[in-house]
Amino acid sequence: MAEKTLERILVTGAAGQIGSELIPALCEKEDTDIVVATVLNDKEKKYLEDIVKSDKLSIEILDVRNKDDFDSIAKENDINGMYHLAGILSAKGEENPYLACDVNVNGLLNALEVARKYKIKTFWASSIAAFGPDTPKEKTPQNPPMHPTTMYGLNKLWGEQLCEYYAKNYDVDIRSVRFPGIISYKTLPGGGTTDYAVQIFYDALKKGEFTCPLDKNTRLPMMYMPDAIKGMIDIMNAPKGSIKVRTSYNIGAVDFTPEELESAIKNSGRSFKMKYEINKTLQRIADSWVDSVDDSKAREDWGWNPEYDILATICYDMLYHLSKKLHLEERIIKY
Ligand SMILES: NC(=O)c1ccc[n+]([C@@H]2O[C@H](COP(=O)([O-])OP(=O)(O)OC[C@H]3O[C@@H](n4cnc5c(N)ncnc54)[C@H](O)[C@@H]3O)[C@@H](O)[C@H]2O)c1
Repeated sequence: MAEKTLERILVTGAAGQIGSELIPALCEKEDTDIVVATVLNDKEKKYLEDIVKSDKLSIEILDVRNKDDFDSIAKENDINGMYHLAGILSAKGEENPYLACDVNVNGLLNALEVARKYKIKTFWASSIAAFGPDTPKEKTPQNPPMHPTTMYGLNKLWGEQLCEYYAKNYDVDIRSVRFPGIISYKTLPGGGTTDYAVQIFYDALKKGEFTCPLDKNTRLPMMYMPDAIKGMIDIMNAPKGSIKVRTSYNIGAVDFTPEELESAIKNSGRSFKMKYEINKTLQRIADSWVDSVDDSKAREDWGWNPEYDILATICYDMLYHLSKKLHLEERIIKY
């Protein structure tokens, strides 16, 4: 029997919300040979060194807009699998649209060029931000009308089309999902419109109250981080022939409004107050997105199946882990 090729994986944007949880998961996989995590600067490098201890991990500094550096890191490490996560998210993207376009567009172009040149199987994260006001809001189908109104959404839509172009014209094995808002207790989110759904848990535990920047009825699709990590690894492990969509797959888990999240936190037995002070930019972005997605194509093609599809379960898990984490930090400060 032929020996299975060990994976030599490159992850860009590795110190971000998703990367910092993906890296330990990749290092733990038996078939991983090395993980080369690339970060933007020394501060991110130190952060990643502190949270991940593994002999398989090496950390490099890379601005993904630099094509030559990107190429050298892939070539020198003989990379055969890549997760391209570096990017500027929705809220930050509206603050600095030029930077968002530069990083999101040129970074992906460079990633795809490296993938083409060295035949690297590649994952790239699209987003529900690629949808727009004319996209059907409920159970959004896989191929709806898409006319995004944010710079981030435009970049994601263009990215999806570019991925398909590289798959069709150069046979690049690119795999992608449209992530909804992601909730996690380990790393703070990096400037997206759904960040409120993480910050609310910190404020609930530390202050017993939260000021929500979105209207109480704003329904958005969301996902708990363990499902996001599982989805990325599952789509990358799937046989090449099973990946029929080379733009990006819809994947869903839960959807809720701020008011429903408020109730779920109150139902955990905590005293908790929520007030609403609408942030116009965030509300405009959220209103242009969808409420829930139809992810049947991902389920059929590569077996997408989220474990956390009930808000109360996510809420309980977040409060449990975050309170442990915050108490630990308090002890470190005291001693
Ligand atoms: N977190 C979410 O809710 C969510 C939802 C949908 C899609 N996504 C997508 O998933 C991917 C990862 O998201 P995340 O939540 O980890 O984001 P994040 O903002 O937490 O992390 C992104 C990382 O990219 C880095 N970066 C920025 N500019 C860079 C550059 N020029 N070169 C190299 N690195 C650079 C940042 O320093 C940061 O560490 C992104 O493509 C994002 O659009 C995330």
